[in-house]
Amino acid sequence: MSATSLKVRERLQDLVLSTEQALEIKNKLNHEIERGLGKDTHATSSVKCFITYVQDLPNSKERGKFLALDLGGTNFRVLLITLAEGAHFHMDSKIYAVPKDIMTGPGTGLFDHIADCLADFMKEYDVYKEKLPLGFTFSFPCVQEGLTKARLSTWTKGFNCEGVENNDVVKLLKEAIARRGDVQIDVMAVLNDTTGTLMSCAYKKHNCRVGLIVGTGSNACYVEKLENVQLWDGPTEGVPDQVIINTEWGAFGDNDVLENIRTEYDRTIDRESINPGKQLFEKMISGMYMGELVRLVLVKLIREGLIFGGKSSDMIQEKGRFYTKYVSEIESDKQGEYHSCLQVLEELGLGGVATETDMADVRTVCELVSRRAAHLTSAGVACLLDRMGEKDVTVAVDGSVYRFHPHFHHLMMDKISELIDPSIKFDLMLSEDGSGRGAALVAAVACRDR
Ligand code: GLC
Repeated sequence: MSATSLKVRERLQDLVLSTEQALEIKNKLNHEIERGLGKDTHATSSVKCFITYVQDLPNSKERGKFLALDLGGTNFRVLLITLAEGAHFHMDSKIYAVPKDIMTGPGTGLFDHIADCLADFMKEYDVYKEKLPLGFTFSFPCVQEGLTKARLSTWTKGFNCEGVENNDVVKLLKEAIARRGDVQIDVMAVLNDTTGTLMSCAYKKHNCRVGLIVGTGSNACYVEKLENVQLWDGPTEGVPDQVIINTEWGAFGDNDVLENIRTEYDRTIDRESINPGKQLFEKMISGMYMGELVRLVLVKLIREGLIFGGKSSDMIQEKGRFYTKYVSEIESDKQGEYHSCLQVLEELGLGGVATETDMADVRTVCELVSRRAAHLTSAGVACLLDRMGEKDVTVAVDGSVYRFHPHFHHLMMDKISELIDPSIKFDLMLSEDGSGRGAALVAAVACRDR
């Protein structure tokens, strides 16, 4: 850690998670998962553990053209993926913005927008007249009633469109496409980004058993023995003995079990969010909140005169103005150098007042917040690895925080090793574009098995 002032470090002790606390979180999460999977306890568990219905893995024999939609990260994307001989594939994709008023407007507006983007894409890539199979990555908590039916249980991550909760999002998508009346698609699967991430890694790594996202939001899915899933109410004969469970661990703590580690900054983030009281674990970890957490800590240090000689700027006082990417940039500076840090402070109107100690302090704040996020995520992964009890597991990971933060991977490798049963071997592998390619793969497998 940097040569920061002692006073600042002391002031921020509550952002440090001890190993004992991490172990306690791991155990509490396990307890919540068990309650999530249990028939009678599911309703009151904060970790819902939804069944995904994605079962068969790709076998590299899938062929053809597939469309995929990816909603729920920073961007909305449409993809066209061509699977060819020998696991080769070609992928075209286009990013579309989802304007803020659509994110919080009526649900029909959101699905009309998705349908419009899809039609635009199909024209551009010359498949407008075809009826292609489609995989829909919809990265929000859903109760699935089959591979192509998913009822949104609650919006997360800044979305709040009326008329979608409790409804089947595949039906809403099909209705929007029908309203346009021009393009045709064949929805083969709806899935969560964690599942897509797991599937697209499992394509290559056969010991892949966990899909993890640390991006705009945070969540994980894992492979559970069917006998542990009381929630399962399908047939028990002739079905695989394992299922992929979407934990929706972002909501861990929504029933107060994390109160002993939440800080005043976490409480402010939550209070000022569009979904107070919800997704409390996610709000301590993911990219949607990380920059804002750092900003809140800095504002507090300024108010107490512990940094920048107590001087402030309009920008640092502005909600959302400290972007999460700044955390990665500042921590990418070499120890003792503050090139990116100074640039960020200049952007925030604080360049003129920052001394070298101030810059070391800013870096320390970033380190404390990102470290805590990595340690909380590690407690979660350690919990899943111990639960599954398999001796050698690959964890597929995706998301902007994991991808772009310079130390997140190493922080997690170290912490997980410290927290798991030492006889378990594991690896964290970046899963390239799970939510796009994974959706196409799941759709392809569903077509193959049709
Ligand atoms: C939020 C969503 C979850 C998703 C995660 C990562 O937690 O509720 O479904 O997997 O973000 O995108």
